[in-house]
Amino acid sequence: MNTVKASTEKLSQEVKSNGFFLKENWLTKEDQEVIRNYIFDHKPIKGSKESLACSNNKSFLINFSKFNFRKIKISLFLNKIAKKLHLKKIAEGILNEKAKLVQIDFYYNKISNEPVLDWHCDNAYSGRNNVETFLHPEDYSIKFFFYLSDVSPDNGCLSYIPKSNIITHALRKGIYEGAIKYSPYWSLKDLRNKVLNYDSLKYIEKLVDKKDLKIFLEHSDYALEHQNNLNKFDFSLKKGGAIIFNESGVHRGSKTKLSERLVLRFFYKKF
Ligand SMILES: [Fe+2]
Repeated sequence: MNTVKASTEKLSQEVKSNGFFLKENWLTKEDQEVIRNYIFDHKPIKGSKESLACSNNKSFLINFSKFNFRKIKISLFLNKIAKKLHLKKIAEGILNEKAKLVQIDFYYNKISNEPVLDWHCDNAYSGRNNVETFLHPEDYSIKFFFYLSDVSPDNGCLSYIPKSNIITHALRKGIYEGAIKYSPYWSLKDLRNKVLNYDSLKYIEKLVDKKDLKIFLEHSDYALEHQNNLNKFDFSLKKGGAIIFNESGVHRGSKTKLSERLVLRFFYKKF
């Protein structure tokens, strides 16, 4: 087995098992420079996000029709980067199925004492009380966040509760099949209560490894108990590094106390 294949397999295994993986020094300095030049030449970033075009959908055509050649140029460059770094292949290794690129964007945050977004899981209807169409549990993205600024605890890192991807998957499956009644589980507090509910617990225990459930319950308890002074799940990563994660698991964007945060994001879904 060659080294590239071995490291890709390790990455996939880690994301499947814990929900996330950190990879240092992934984006070259030259590539970072091209991207930063585009972003900071292109002021202002509208709000905190800017979407780019993916080569496999009609977003390129839309940009052509608007004569937005600058955006087309950077989009082509980013699609090339995705190819060069084998992101599709990695996503397929994690999803065990063919994958497609569904979104590329930049996310920018100013210095702030507020978390970018507190503990939550995606695909949870933002905690709404009523949900008409419940998504299939296999409908989720694998996200690649490439940092274009250094991040550290309380400074822009994305924190993740290990094993929460496994627990939310089982919960979503139970709700989708009608074995568990839906109630909000977007926030960590609601999710933990939902998991500990008698019907959910009975269902989840049948599907997941006891050890994984125990780890999730311990970590989630700790995270809720130490809300205001918590960096157990935080990490440091220099610009050019990335976190790859399953969006179904519980995560948060920490505060950006020391510096602005700039992230380049690629999302992949099952075909
Ligand atoms: Fe999220």
